[in-house]
Amino acid sequence: MKILSTIAEMRAAARAVRREGKLLGFVPTMGALHEGHLSLVRAARQRSDVVAASIFVNPTQFGPKEDFSKYPRSFERDCELLQGEGVELLFAPTSEEMYPPGAVTWVTVEGLSEKLDGKSRPGHFRGVTTVVAKLFHAVEPDVAFFGQKDAAQVANLRQMVRDLNFAVEMVVCPIVREADGLALSSRNAYLDSEQRRQARVLSRALRQMAAAYERGERNALVLAEAGRKVMAEEPAVRLDYLEIVDPDTLDPVATIARPTLAAVAAYVGATRLIDNVVLG
Ligand code: PAF
Repeated sequence: MKILSTIAEMRAAARAVRREGKLLGFVPTMGALHEGHLSLVRAARQRSDVVAASIFVNPTQFGPKEDFSKYPRSFERDCELLQGEGVELLFAPTSEEMYPPGAVTWVTVEGLSEKLDGKSRPGHFRGVTTVVAKLFHAVEPDVAFFGQKDAAQVANLRQMVRDLNFAVEMVVCPIVREADGLALSSRNAYLDSEQRRQARVLSRALRQMAAAYERGERNALVLAEAGRKVMAEEPAVRLDYLEIVDPDTLDPVATIARPTLAAVAAYVGATRLIDNVVLG
């Protein structure tokens, strides 16, 4: 696996791949890799000739009071994992490389970037779309792979790709869960054992909503109420949002008539966790 730390090196390596007529798959990450990330790499292996990944803890998607400085970092181990999965190119730039002094240009998906996580994390999606646009310019992938766990991120990125005419096909891979239902997240590392137990309530609430949907319930208010009731079983877990929305516009849906996103975000101690399920 070649590790490239500048945009120029990364672009040259990626262009060499594409000059050979090979299809380049790309998995952007912030490191602290878990099985969820590795499932993206495996999907990329299946769909592309050469796989590039990136590790960059993007400062612009963290709020001033968020966990940027303590975000888990495990570069050596991440490299071993990526190499083991057959990644050939790893882009690992510094902050200065990605954001040279004086940079003032942002990519903002207006409206969408203020919904769901964007409401409680102002500026978060602007940071995500800006860095992914920059990563796409450095890597110029044919196909890029993202996790369904960040459903609102997926909606923002799809809209950005459409609006800015990126020639990148977006592939979204299913959420990977622990045996007890907890969605894998690098932030699960922050949880102590009691919080780890409490955190199961997010997936339990979503399962309850999915079960009610399967029984024929289509009223979003009734479904959301069922989910909130489960969330209330863990009073130490502070609900940020539980919403039933259109997966593309992230606008609330009243009656479920087509695949609809049930999404939840909650604080377990100081750790903010998210999870979701598609109904229908
Ligand atoms: O999903 C993530 O890990 C990040 O938001 C991404 C897409 C790598 C951008 O920093």
